[in-house]
Amino acid sequence: MKEKETFELLYSNAKKIINNSYCPYSSFKVSAAVLTSTGKVFTGINVENASYGLTVCAERNAIFNAVGNGEKEFSALLIYTETEEFTPPCGACRQVMAEFAPEADIFLTNIYGEYKKFSLKELFPWNFSL
Ligand code: THU
Repeated sequence: MKEKETFELLYSNAKKIINNSYCPYSSFKVSAAVLTSTGKVFTGINVENASYGLTVCAERNAIFNAVGNGEKEFSALLIYTETEEFTPPCGACRQVMAEFAPEADIFLTNIYGEYKKFSLKELFPWNFSL
């Protein structure tokens, strides 16, 4: 799939679910979509908790959703927020991406439908591994 096509597929999927974000504490809605190497799309949103540290980011929820459905290889991941700025993934999500999506293209996007593409290696050059 071409870069633009991948972007459009993941962007439309992520945008569609942004209002499912459960973020009563930060009011910062995030959604993410991943493309598996078999061509399927899985999505996730951030889910917060009154015990703040239990919050799980959109990226991890998207990846874990895919893994729960038997998919462990990803070619692309997109992060969507309703902001002008691009939202980079947090450190915890980068480590999870290193586990399942080390070769994936990471698309950071904004409300205007613009994007910046990074490799995970650029964002997270030296991950922990066992
Ligand atoms: N958040 C994500 O979902 N992904 C990120 O990469 C950064 C932060 C969420 C967690 C929390 O619900 C809200 O954004 C504010 O930190």
